[in-house]
Amino acid sequence: PSRYAVIGNPIEHSRSPAIHAAFARQTGQDLVYDRILGRLDDFAADVRRFFAAGGAGLNVTVPFKEQAWALADERTPRAETAGAVNTLIRLLDGRLRGDNTDGAGLVRDLAGNHGFTFAGRRVLLIGAGGAARGVLRPLLEAGVAELVVANRTAAKAETLAAAAAPFGSVRGGGLDGLAAGQGFDLIVNATSAGLSGALPALPAGCLSTGGWVYDLVYGPAAAPFLDWGRSQGAAVALDGLGMLVEQAAESFLLWRGVRPETAEVIAELRRATA
Ligand code: ATR
Repeated sequence: PSRYAVIGNPIEHSRSPAIHAAFARQTGQDLVYDRILGRLDDFAADVRRFFAAGGAGLNVTVPFKEQAWALADERTPRAETAGAVNTLIRLLDGRLRGDNTDGAGLVRDLAGNHGFTFAGRRVLLIGAGGAARGVLRPLLEAGVAELVVANRTAAKAETLAAAAAPFGSVRGGGLDGLAAGQGFDLIVNATSAGLSGALPALPAGCLSTGGWVYDLVYGPAAAPFLDWGRSQGAAVALDGLGMLVEQAAESFLLWRGVRPETAEVIAELRRATA
């Protein structure tokens, strides 16, 4: 069987092996998918060892996505813009191609699984770290009318927006520049605030009537932001579990040339994490 793995630190709680095992069963693909605890001081050596031993592809997670970007011999355009790589593919000549499927996973979960239409929408992206950078270009290319990136530290959002300007209408600024009445159709939380139970300082009234809210993380860490969204009258409030499965499906497609069905895998994971 072909060998795949996810590498991160920590890694023991990663759901990726279970997700890819389900995809392999469903599509009849013969593969094994392991977890690798990457060494914080020698990530590159751990990657080289995996591929030297015949590995076919790697998923990369926290805190190594930027290092994987630097290590890749070539990168797809969306990975290039993201500045981060979550999928490494060994090419026939042994070189490593880096891709980033996070943003595509977000767009597929929203549009494909939940029926959100991006065309013509005003979207607010909160945060300007690695998670925000990973989804910025795919959001723009999904056809939004306008994307605003707002971050606690305004300068980081301005830098991000400037880099993404070739791909659509985007501007960046501080959270303190947001105001009631801005009428965002979708607000995406890409900050790490929820991991410590916190909520970014958002003004009331900036979500449009019938607007949606989405947190890139799943489980309890998504609760502060999704609760805020519901308090603002959100029609739909989603955590990032669907995105997790969809980014995995995109990676599986890149590696195996077949796109798995995700609905049952998402439902199963939802039951397992409830
Ligand atoms: P990640 O890889 O998860 O994006 P990161 O690169 O450390 O992690 O970025 C964390 C993001 O969450 C940043 O945008 C950070 O804002 P600052 O740039 O101002 O630090 C944001 N963040 C973290 N805690 C926050 C909080 N309590 N309120 C608002 N934003 C917060």
